[in-house]
Amino acid sequence: MTAQRIYDTVADDFSRVNDLIIKRLSSDVPLVEKIAQYIIKSGGKRLRPLLVLLSSRALGHDRDDHLKLAAVIEFLHTATLLHDDVVDTSDMRRGRSTANARWGNAPSVLVGDFLYARAFQMMVELQNLRIMDVLSHATAVIAEGEVMQLMNVKNPDLSEAQYMEVIHNKTAMLFEAASHTGALLADADDDQETALRDYGKHLGLAFQLVDDVLDYRGDAGAMGKNVGDDLAEGKTTLPLIYAMQNGVEDERQLIRQAIRKGGLDDLPAILQIVDSSGALEYTMSKAREQAALAAGCLTALPESDHKEALALLADVAVARVS
Ligand code: IPE
Ligand code: IPE
Ligand code: MG
Ligand code: MG
Repeated sequence: MTAQRIYDTVADDFSRVNDLIIKRLSSDVPLVEKIAQYIIKSGGKRLRPLLVLLSSRALGHDRDDHLKLAAVIEFLHTATLLHDDVVDTSDMRRGRSTANARWGNAPSVLVGDFLYARAFQMMVELQNLRIMDVLSHATAVIAEGEVMQLMNVKNPDLSEAQYMEVIHNKTAMLFEAASHTGALLADADDDQETALRDYGKHLGLAFQLVDDVLDYRGDAGAMGKNVGDDLAEGKTTLPLIYAMQNGVEDERQLIRQAIRKGGLDDLPAILQIVDSSGALEYTMSKAREQAALAAGCLTALPESDHKEALALLADVAVARVS
């Protein structure tokens, strides 16, 4: 099975979700629609809606409301991206200029707000209080994760445990909410609900760990975003935490100063230390650990193509280049 096989498992659902996403972007305010369409139509992997579709289908869901839930999750994700690129002063996303680079910070923040609001309107249409509970909680936790990260910008003393908490909140929480609400929609029993919720959490952790490796080793063309962004922003991610712990004193000091300063002046030297210390291998081993935990959760599910696709998704999350 290749990555494409995962999407093929729910190909029809997937294209209907895309249609629904475009349809529900409508607004009478032209700039709202323009910016929202710009970021949504620039693509993205649509991993979180995929998780909703696979999770609900793996439990035999056979109504159409999972399509709406999938669109809601992608709107929440897109809103976080619009805000995140403002906060991170990023200028490239999904292979194009970010909305903030193109239209400025103010419209990006406000259109992000619009996408949150539209997501909540559609969520209400689902008329499922447990799903609203999970998604509203997740939305708050993601915002907290981004604020925690902001408070630690240019802080070289961030520990591995604190880093894990940040990535759990800012990223894994939405993966978790996607598979969890997919399970709730399909009337999961308690074991299945826990299994799918935890699957999403571990998958999300693996995904962000790999993202933080790609920020040092990735290909900007394939990723559609810049390499070195994390260092430029003064973000202390696991590759740097490990390199500081395991490097010699000079190397540790160089990394500490680069984090405090931000910017890209020291990137070549930092890349060398990160490489020689084995920090990327270490971070990848942590990602593989999380992917294996995710796959382990799936034993609670009945055999199906959808379950197989979820297992494959855990492999793909650690093998990805974009
Ligand atoms: C980007 O997520 C934000 C992170 C959590 C790293 P994705 O890599 O899933 O972004 P798109 O939707 O595919 O562009
Ligand atoms: C993304 O974090 C998490 C959210 C959007 C909430 P990052 O800042 O690490 O992701 P990229 O690198 O911009 O995609
Ligand atoms: Mg960012
Ligand atoms: Mg990143």
